Amino acid sequence: MSFRIVGTGRAVPENTVTNRQLSELLDTSDEWIVTRTGIQSRYICTTESVTDLAAGAAEKAMKKAGVTANDIEMIICATLGGDYVFPSLACCVAGKLGANCPSTDLNAACTGFLYALNFAEMFYNGGKTGNILIICAERLSGRMDWRDRSTCVLFGDAAGACVLSPGESLKYMHLSVNSDAAPLYLLSPRGNSPFSPPRGGSDFTVMDGQAVFKFATRTLENEARRAFGSLGLSAEDMDLFLIHQANKRILEYVRLKLGQPPEKFPINLDRYGNVSAASIPILLDELLEAGEITPGRRLFLSAFGAGMTYGSCVLEW
Ligand code: ACO
Repeated sequence: MSFRIVGTGRAVPENTVTNRQLSELLDTSDEWIVTRTGIQSRYICTTESVTDLAAGAAEKAMKKAGVTANDIEMIICATLGGDYVFPSLACCVAGKLGANCPSTDLNAACTGFLYALNFAEMFYNGGKTGNILIICAERLSGRMDWRDRSTCVLFGDAAGACVLSPGESLKYMHLSVNSDAAPLYLLSPRGNSPFSPPRGGSDFTVMDGQAVFKFATRTLENEARRAFGSLGLSAEDMDLFLIHQANKRILEYVRLKLGQPPEKFPINLDRYGNVSAASIPILLDELLEAGEITPGRRLFLSAFGAGMTYGSCVLEW
């Protein structure tokens, strides 16, 4: 027994920031950002907390699933971090939703949604029969150096959520990590312990963009070939490819390598930027809303992120 997704939802801050607005703050341009990434605008929090976004997405997913907080058996939040180091984001959201079930966070960076699905599958295999609420929520604007044009223009704030019930949608799952890979990190907050020497390094996200780009293109193609080989299927057998929305050029590279038409590689990063773990569940929610995902359709999901974590799964709707 694995799971099926019975409801999805998304939430974004009110404030959108266009490339042109960024070019008033930084030495950048709409042309540079669109050409290099495909991003046109992103949502950036003003007063919203990560908990607000997470709870907003969760409420919509629960409504579509026709369940209340009492019907949720477990909450898993995939996030780079909530409003507090502790308590976890999942505990904060449980409080806001009025849920009393076990609630915990996981951090697999941008691959978080796939890791959360894998954990949920393990719970169902272990005999759980209730609903599991997965929420992927990020407030990346608070983690960037807004003086560093090579990183801050890429990311946004948002949340995506889904409710799972027991079912047979999951046909394939592979997750891994390559800890030797490119630098992409954010150091923990400095403490003031009198027993430790002062820590060096940046307080903000550090990324070697080109190394990440190379890792992503190589890994996503390998992940697809591994999945199709293992299932005895081909790329043609997939109806849609929901790939982590980091950069349009990465998506295009993988699409061309797999010889697939653009309509099978939906893109929403132009409106969101990279929202880490939230990117695939938001895309899923939008595609469901647009009627693109109907019973029997096969979806290939794949992502990469800091760690470097990576993975993929195949769902049959
Ligand atoms: N505006 C204008 N110029 C810029 C900007 C900007 N925002 N940022 C960098 N530049 C400049 C650089 O300073 C450099 O100038 P120089 O040639 O005078 O030194 C020039 O543009 C080229 O910079 P590159 O880093 O070589 O640009 P590249 O073509 O590699 O594109 C990018 C950079 C977009 C970051 C690309 O490498 C990329 O997308 N990498 C993958 C990033 C990614 O996916 N991150 C997410 C990882 S996982 C996760 O989601 C957490």
